[in-house]
Amino acid sequence: MAILEVRDISVSFGGIKPVRGVTFSVEAGSFTSIIGPNGAGKTSLFNLISGVNKIDAGEISFKGQTIHKLHAHEIASRGLVRTFQGAKVIKRLTVAENLMMAVQGNPGDSLWRFFTPRSRSKFEKHARELAMERLDRVGMTKYADDFAGILSGGQRKLLDLSRALMTNPSMILLDEPFAGVNPTLVEKLLEVLASMRKQHEITFLLIEHDLETVMNISERVIVMAEGKIIADGLPNSIYENEQVVDAYLGSRKRGA
Ligand SMILES: Nc1ncnc2c1ncn2[C@@H]1O[C@H](COP(=O)(O)OP(=O)(O)O)[C@@H](O)[C@H]1O
Ligand SMILES: [Mg+2]
Repeated sequence: MAILEVRDISVSFGGIKPVRGVTFSVEAGSFTSIIGPNGAGKTSLFNLISGVNKIDAGEISFKGQTIHKLHAHEIASRGLVRTFQGAKVIKRLTVAENLMMAVQGNPGDSLWRFFTPRSRSKFEKHARELAMERLDRVGMTKYADDFAGILSGGQRKLLDLSRALMTNPSMILLDEPFAGVNPTLVEKLLEVLASMRKQHEITFLLIEHDLETVMNISERVIVMAEGKIIADGLPNSIYENEQVVDAYLGSRKRGA
């Protein structure tokens, strides 16, 4: 069953058309990667799916319901969440507090002011428990009470990932989670993703520029270039696709 269906979507900003008639669907519980060169429109595509930007044409549905007219927070509350390229953490909050923010939503939220001190502390206790459980999933419980500012780049990625898990999503969109992460931590992140998928039946759609990194974890790879999908299939078929190899994987595969 398809959890996400994207039908012939496009967007333009002034003269630029980052996404041009993209169509694909994602099976529930699957792991799909989107690769392509810089400027291919990958992040723009995520911006459309997650409601950060609105489509000019086409249709997007999630769990059988149209979502492209909804606000980003409404889409997230239906279980479709995303991470942003270049994970951001709030350095002056602790690691646990960074996660707790994801449950309470916007701290300036008007609703928050109506909490009585008692219900507020109950809510905080609940959020703290959730945060500790999510940190455990990525092996970061020992950093719970450290300021997020002390974390390494890779640890911030793990924190970003556990933040995406706070609201129990059924699908996560990850925008280049491995960028700037050392190879050992990339392996660790891949393990964390694989186990999350297995234990919690989360559907993943991940953007990455390097095919080799996502070769093993992906059941399917979609290649984007100039706003369009130019290939879509099993990782091996992508690896052997001459057009993709020549244009976008270049010298790596040929060993030059
Ligand atoms: N909000 C926007 N306004 C204007 N141009 C944009 C906007 N978002 C993306 N673009 C342009 O769309 C193109 C695709 O960018 P992007 O989606 O970030 O590619 P990728 O993530 O594949 O590297 C780029 O030329 C970028 O400058
Ligand atoms: Mg991008």
